[in-house]
Amino acid sequence: MATTANFSEIDMPGQARSTRSVAIVTGAAGDIGRAISLRLSDGHDVIVLADLDGEAAGRLACELGEGRFVAIACDVTEAASVAAMATAAAGLGTVTTLVNNAGGARAVSLQETTPEVWRRDNALNLEAAFLCFRAVEDMLKESRGSVVNIASVNAVGIFGHPAYSAAKAGLLHLTRLIAVEYGKFGIRANAVAPGTVRTHAWAARARANPQVFEEAQRWYPLQRIVNPEDVANAVHFLAGPQASAITGVCLPVDCGLTAGQAELARTFSQSSHY
Ligand SMILES: NC(=O)c1ccc[n+]([C@@H]2O[C@H](COP(=O)([O-])OP(=O)(O)OC[C@H]3O[C@@H](n4cnc5c(N)ncnc54)[C@H](O)[C@@H]3O)[C@@H](O)[C@H]2O)c1
Repeated sequence: MATTANFSEIDMPGQARSTRSVAIVTGAAGDIGRAISLRLSDGHDVIVLADLDGEAAGRLACELGEGRFVAIACDVTEAASVAAMATAAAGLGTVTTLVNNAGGARAVSLQETTPEVWRRDNALNLEAAFLCFRAVEDMLKESRGSVVNIASVNAVGIFGHPAYSAAKAGLLHLTRLIAVEYGKFGIRANAVAPGTVRTHAWAARARANPQVFEEAQRWYPLQRIVNPEDVANAVHFLAGPQASAITGVCLPVDCGLTAGQAELARTFSQSSHY
């Protein structure tokens, strides 16, 4: 798959290419990916916007600032495409951060999940993170860098979208696998598990039920849903030096959803304090 970056534009006078720190954000053209990319520009010299939709990534690079932001068309479910993206990223500097953010869900229930959908959701939400990590692991060893995997509350509870959820649960395990096996190289691996975020991924559900976000927020202890910037802030923290002793964890960014539900606590306790 062709890259959309014009590498001649990213020459930074006075800074050798090898000393530039590069963050790769997959699915960067989506709403959460965009926020993460912007946030990681604090702490990285170059942000690779890797997305299946190369044109959207290219538009985002133009908007955020070509040079610091470099669009690369990449299908993270295809090993050859991931390898080409990793090679292009290596030409920009040293990868210090990989954010496996590309993801998405198809079937909403097990009863409508075909084997094909099961495999595709696993390829995008689990296997792709493995492919991307293996493709850049040598650079992460060199930089003693880190991986942040974007999981979901669906990784730890049942909220619909079964194949996606099983894949996200696997992604948490992949996070721990990397943390334990690669810790000796100084590589850290962590995950964030967002709750509901209003993004394009919700477009069909929001069309079917325009009240879907209002209905969702009553289940959240903070009585609101999550913003892309909330996720981006957590990623920035986990990728940065303040988290240098943190590896193998999953940080929920879910406005309290996985802590419990006040309505249920009210029923169980018969206390109006909830
Ligand atoms: N939106 C939510 O409520 C929510 C909640 C929890 C977790 N998440 C997770 O956050 C991440 C981002 O989700 P979002 O809501 O911003 O989604 P989105 O649909 O807005 O963006 C997803 C991006 O991934 C890209 N993409 C899809 N397939 C790809 C592929 N094969 N290779 C490369 N790029 C590909 C798309 O082109 C798109 O730009 C996902 O991993 C998702 O599972 C989202």
